[in-house]
Amino acid sequence: MEKILEVKNLNISFDTYAGKVRAIRGVDFDLNKGETLAIVGESGSGKSVTTRTIMRLLSSNANIDEGEILFKGESIVDKTEKEMQKIRGREIAMIFQDPMTSLDPTMTIGKQVAESLRKHKKVSKKEGMKAALDLLNLVGIPDAEKRLKNYPHQFSGGQRQRIVIAIALICNPEILIADEPTTALDVTIQAQILELLKEIQEKIETSIIFITHDLGVVANVADRVAVMYAGRIIEVGTAEEIFYNPQHPYTWGLLGSMPTLDSENDRLYAIPGSPPDLLDPPKGDAFYPRNEFALKIDAEMEPPFFELSATHKAATWLLAPQAPKVTPPLEIQRRWDIFRKKQNQYSA
Ligand SMILES: Nc1ncnc2c1ncn2[C@@H]1O[C@H](COP(=O)(O)OP(=O)(O)OP(=O)(O)O)[C@@H](O)[C@H]1O
Ligand SMILES: [Mg+2]
Repeated sequence: MEKILEVKNLNISFDTYAGKVRAIRGVDFDLNKGETLAIVGESGSGKSVTTRTIMRLLSSNANIDEGEILFKGESIVDKTEKEMQKIRGREIAMIFQDPMTSLDPTMTIGKQVAESLRKHKKVSKKEGMKAALDLLNLVGIPDAEKRLKNYPHQFSGGQRQRIVIAIALICNPEILIADEPTTALDVTIQAQILELLKEIQEKIETSIIFITHDLGVVANVADRVAVMYAGRIIEVGTAEEIFYNPQHPYTWGLLGSMPTLDSENDRLYAIPGSPPDLLDPPKGDAFYPRNEFALKIDAEMEPPFFELSATHKAATWLLAPQAPKVTPPLEIQRRWDIFRKKQNQYSA
């Protein structure tokens, strides 16, 4: 498989009054051409910082302490701001968390979509409008021709998110990064937007990085899933491997906290405790204090990755040959069962 993006041993820190925040601590992953990779983890785990580094959109107090990002074999870290401007939006596009802040309330939608094309490519106003119309149709805005003249506030939240996607797609980017594009919207719209991204991907062959804190959302759309915790990837695998054979207790917790939606007395499970302070990261496994299956060594030493298959690896001492065999808690297994049954219904 052709790799379009390679992230190698990325270490990012932020200078703050309280000291250095070690936000990203040795992140490695690849993105293959045409695939959808989901990056999942709790708030503060480093999902946005990782993707903002790929776009080189970090705040001024950020340091890339170590690591390499290769886009089609070329280093992103070494590029000048001018070179990045050619890549940003054109070759790597990003959809941000809140659609309203990404749109200009004083400009019609047609103009906004067309302008974003004209920023990167020499096309006439008329060609820009034609491209805008095609894209609004592609992202499913009904009556697109008429609506080109409407302003952002005249659209629903879901439609605005579609328009933001249209703007991101206008230059036919090779990578589309969607940073939690659906948190502000209700579940049905989330599902529709995800379906839409998937449909679009079939038509234009973009590679997608999809960021979310909700594993349930990505089950139907991700080819591979990377789970992040406290600035590291702690497990990565195909969607099948992560959903059916998860190995890290943190992944178990995330899977256990997916809402099952259908049972009346459904208690929402939350992983107890909170992530470590990244001003002073722990020397052992960062998940140690919250891990009910923690071993003595977790307090002492960072676990390495243990490989389960060519595509699946997890960083937990539970996979060491001498570790005791443990099974995920029954409550979590019960949730998986409900979830799997639903998945099967959908795919049937
Ligand atoms: N400009 C900054 N200055 C200092 N620390 C920062 C800065 N930006 C991010 N961080 C820290 O980096 C860590 C990772 O943040 P990031 O925004 O990547 O989290 P996230 O996984 O995207 O969370 P969320 O799901 O809430 O969006 C956090 O501990 C955060 O406090
Ligand atoms: Mg974020």
